[in-house]
Amino acid sequence: MHHLYLFLVWWHILGVTIWLGANFFLVLVLLPIAKKDTYRDFYPQLFADIVMRLRAVSWFVLSSVVISGVFLMMFRFGKVIVTWDFWRELYGETLFIKLCFVAAVFIGSFLHDFHWGPKAIALLQQNPEDAQTKKMRRISSYIGRIIFLFGLIVVFLAVKFVRGG
Ligand code: HEM
Repeated sequence: MHHLYLFLVWWHILGVTIWLGANFFLVLVLLPIAKKDTYRDFYPQLFADIVMRLRAVSWFVLSSVVISGVFLMMFRFGKVIVTWDFWRELYGETLFIKLCFVAAVFIGSFLHDFHWGPKAIALLQQNPEDAQTKKMRRISSYIGRIIFLFGLIVVFLAVKFVRGG
């Protein structure tokens, strides 16, 4: 049983690193290069292909992080639905706040990946210089950054929770 527990922790952390790492790579490496003048003509299609692929990877990885997280709770507490007293204690409170941020990441990602993002991409491919296109790109970009920031907060809360704070 202990090996299964270790495997799940490994899987959970691996998923988190892939999810956050992919976003770091997109923002810090891929997009700055794709935006160079050299690639100007290809940018709308290149961007669309990259983010659609990233969307599929992200949802697979995020889902596996949540599933492994539910099993980790079972290992730690023997059950998933814990009592109200549990959530009021310090450890429970940290985990509860973490799960609220996880929920925000999911809702934000859903809207970003399936509503604002695709809308911005469609506009970018039809009319790159239009004001509406720029607005949708700005909204998608801000929502993406907020989700990313929330992801970093979730990691901090997870570290705090595991170390008893
Ligand atoms: C975006 C989603 C999530 C992220 C980024 C995340 C991140 C992390 C990280 C980095 C750790 C390891 C902390 C450490 O060892 O120092 C961890 C552990 C843990 N996570 Fe998550 N997590 C997420 C979702 C969830 C969910 C949805 C649950 C529960 C339903 C969950 C439950 C747990 C538990 C119980 C541990 C402790 C494992 C142990 O050491 O026994 N996580 N999480």
